[in-house]
Amino acid sequence: MDEGSTDTPQGVGHGGGREASHPLANHVPVLLKEAIDSLNVRRGGTYIDATVGLGGHSYEIAKRLGAPGHLIGLDKDPAALERAADRLRPAGSGEADWPKIELRHASFASLAEARGLKADGILADIGVSSLQLSDAARGFSFQADGPLDMRMDPQSERTAEQVVNHLDERELADVIYEFGEERRSRRIARAIVRSRPIRSTAHLAEVISAAARPMNSGQNKYERRIHPATRTFQALRIFVNRELDDLKALLEAAPRILKPGGRVVVISFHSLEDRIVKDAFREGSIKDKYFRVLTKKPVTASLEEQDRNPRARSAKMRAAERV
Ligand SMILES: C[S@@+](CC[C@H](N)C(=O)[O-])C[C@H]1O[C@@H](n2cnc3c(N)ncnc32)[C@H](O)[C@@H]1O
Repeated sequence: MDEGSTDTPQGVGHGGGREASHPLANHVPVLLKEAIDSLNVRRGGTYIDATVGLGGHSYEIAKRLGAPGHLIGLDKDPAALERAADRLRPAGSGEADWPKIELRHASFASLAEARGLKADGILADIGVSSLQLSDAARGFSFQADGPLDMRMDPQSERTAEQVVNHLDERELADVIYEFGEERRSRRIARAIVRSRPIRSTAHLAEVISAAARPMNSGQNKYERRIHPATRTFQALRIFVNRELDDLKALLEAAPRILKPGGRVVVISFHSLEDRIVKDAFREGSIKDKYFRVLTKKPVTASLEEQDRNPRARSAKMRAAERV
């Protein structure tokens, strides 16, 4: 529903002989061409990849920046940064004309406190990475059993296990409703509270499935197709990682950081995020007139990309320019 990039055997090449033998050679960033074109990367500029992940988008930005350029990559997840560092190091890239690259373990919300930082572009490809999703020990997926963790930053305090076992029933229902847009939130929250303690993703998925079952007949086709735990897992992940607050902070900081003509590009994976981006761009273009919206409608993945990468199906990209 809301996953980001993927690893697939049919990965698009990034050019250069190293790609074929690299362990992340087949990692395919979502809306790669669209995002890079919208950023309008200028050689020698300063760009921020707010969600560096496995470095797929960053790699393309770096290639266009060349040696006089500067790329700042942020991620909450140190494991992602490690992979990105490997992918983006000059020797590893096989590129001689390579920019200065600075990778920082930080939330992009911290850009709100950045003083004196000026950039020609900011890219945010939000959501979970394939690295996070595929590691059962991180607890993001209901398809593999693991501890109920869901933290993008393992140093942050709140885990999904704490949320599931300690919130009262009403608070839990509100989280599931607000961040998962799950209309069975009360029923699911009640079942969770009755089944406590819940320590694993498989146990939680089982409790949710049992609670959701009696309503299955009234669901539309989409609702019936997705796993009954999809929305609740999404809600918990968003809550645990404060994803919507972080996004709002980033969008507030962007006009201060961007140079005139600089661009902000956001790829999101569910309607809650897309609405926040749309509203922030619209407000910035009407009220204070610091943005020119470049995407009247969100850009979505081509059918060919959706076929190749099912996770791209829910991706929506919006872009704005600092005026
Ligand atoms: C979909 S992946 C990005 C993939 C990347 N564009 C690529 O091509 O490899 C999203 C990444 O954003 C990170 N992330 C999510 N929210 C964040 C935040 N508030 N601050 C920093 N990183 C964040 C996640 O840890 C994850 O690694």
